Amino acid sequence: MNKIVIAIDGYSGCGKSSTAKEVARQLGYIYIDSGAMYRAAALHFLNEGLSLSNPKDVAKGLSTLEITFQTNPSTLRQETFLNGKNVEEEIRTMRVSERVSEVARIKEIRQAMVAQQQELGKNKGVVMDGRDIASVVFPDAALKIFMTADVDTRANRRQLELRQKGEEVNVEEIKLNLVERDLMDSSRVESPLIKVADAIEIDTTSLSFEQQVGKIIAHAQKVMFN
Ligand code: DC
Repeated sequence: MNKIVIAIDGYSGCGKSSTAKEVARQLGYIYIDSGAMYRAAALHFLNEGLSLSNPKDVAKGLSTLEITFQTNPSTLRQETFLNGKNVEEEIRTMRVSERVSEVARIKEIRQAMVAQQQELGKNKGVVMDGRDIASVVFPDAALKIFMTADVDTRANRRQLELRQKGEEVNVEEIKLNLVERDLMDSSRVESPLIKVADAIEIDTTSLSFEQQVGKIIAHAQKVMFN
């Protein structure tokens, strides 16, 4: 059977990552969380105190930035490493969420991330989620999904996710962060979040996790057997 690329884009907090991960697992594909890469880059710029408005700082940040993924042998979860350090938990904190869209706006940073993403997916058999996967990273992807969900549902889901990790955040604060990121991600000049013409839209507001995974698998099988 031909391996394909599945591109999943959509707003923040729609469940793209967890859905994409499970779709990849069921198909025996590689899963790549492109948002984790922007989050790791944001953490690097924060930690190093580099200015995003200073081109020299941006170049310095990029030249000292190495993002890798490794599968944790006990949980089988894919984890993100920044310059050799496991940052999987740290990149999901509000400190990083509040800064990541600013980092993701910078052209040079996007170019570096996109080049690495294209390299990771060059052999196909990959599910990648993000904002510009169908429009920029893999415009020829055989299956393009655009996920949406209403903002209250997204905020409640994210609050639960953070709570399970021991971070208690007010739901209104999360909602504000989601709305702000949606706006910044959709209105930026460089590769804004868009639904491409040939993407299939899936609204997950009233879908269970199994249902959203099932829908994508069904579309993937249709494409693979055609
Ligand atoms: O998917 P996420 O919420 O973890 O992504 C974090 C941020 O990274 C998001 O606010 C926008 C940015 N991002 C992007 O610009 N392009 C991508 N392909 C993935 C994420």
